[in-house]
Amino acid sequence: MNEKMLPPIAIELTKSPKARPPADKLGFGKYYTDHMFIMDYDTDRGWHEPRIVPYQPITLDPSAKVFHYGQTVFEGLKAYPTADGRILLFRPRKNAERLNRSNERLSMPTLDEEIVLEGLKQLVKIDRDWIPNEPGTSLYIRPFVIATESALGVAPSREYKFMIILSPVGMYYAGGMKPISIFVESKYVRAVEGGVGTAKTAGNYAASLKAQEEAARLGCDQVLWLDGVQRKYVEEVGSMNVFFRIGDKVVTPALNGSFLAGVTRDSVIQMLRHWEVPLEERAITIDEIVQAYREGRLTEIFGTGTAAVISPVGELCWHGERMKVGNGSAGELSARIYDTLTGIQTGKLEDPFDWTIAI
Ligand code: COI
Repeated sequence: MNEKMLPPIAIELTKSPKARPPADKLGFGKYYTDHMFIMDYDTDRGWHEPRIVPYQPITLDPSAKVFHYGQTVFEGLKAYPTADGRILLFRPRKNAERLNRSNERLSMPTLDEEIVLEGLKQLVKIDRDWIPNEPGTSLYIRPFVIATESALGVAPSREYKFMIILSPVGMYYAGGMKPISIFVESKYVRAVEGGVGTAKTAGNYAASLKAQEEAARLGCDQVLWLDGVQRKYVEEVGSMNVFFRIGDKVVTPALNGSFLAGVTRDSVIQMLRHWEVPLEERAITIDEIVQAYREGRLTEIFGTGTAAVISPVGELCWHGERMKVGNGSAGELSARIYDTLTGIQTGKLEDPFDWTIAI
């Protein structure tokens, strides 16, 4: 019996398990496991009927609010197998907390974080055979909430679904740890302080697509976002937080209310402090980055996120100039952070931070 008397999760197992995809074909988010978690909400009953069912399509009324007003939030975290047969989740409580912060911002009902954790643990256990164990692979866990009330008035939905789906994944970028090029975006903005930039909600990602397409046309892999007001402070890279190694220190933009407080960002900050690498969390302008480049002090740039873990940046495209950072492979610090983080996540290295939870 759970200490907190969580509602029991009903379980219906699939009668037709699917074939597992080969590890070298995984890519990111192309395959889904045999089961999914669902729980419903309405204003009379609150969250109710948690259940694990065979993975299947869902039916919604065309007027469901999620389709029209974008009331939806999501999370992303990963499960890893260990050599001794355990399954490790990486800081899942942080994701459950952030899911609720996103829910609050979008005027959506918060969830009992214990039921979120219990739902995802049980689901991962049921589909544990789907967890790949080749280097660079993992089971990506995607919890999300959608507004399902059929009504076109602009007001918070009175009905929702919370779901969790699982996807065996390889590296997020096809090139793995090969450094990417980034285009410093000065025309479009992703989010502004006071908006929904700190929530993990669909609109932020939809807003980024146009810039991403244009950057790709110019031969760049990702966009480096500047702040939406003065267009001079660096915020994020693609859908990741960003770190710069300048001289003997590492600098990352301080959380300012317009971009996401990444779980990997927080983990990297803790790790660098543990290693006594000088680290500054502060506002940082693109001019400062360019100046550091010109003076030869900008030695590494890397993005951090759940999907890619660490993504080294090898080129900065700014005002038609292509500035090479590093020597074409992952920088020494980026590689050390990646190896340590994935070592902890997969149980190969000791976890001095108590980040992983075995299920
Ligand atoms: C992450 O890496 O944390 C992300 O948010 C990427 C995801 C949208 C695919």
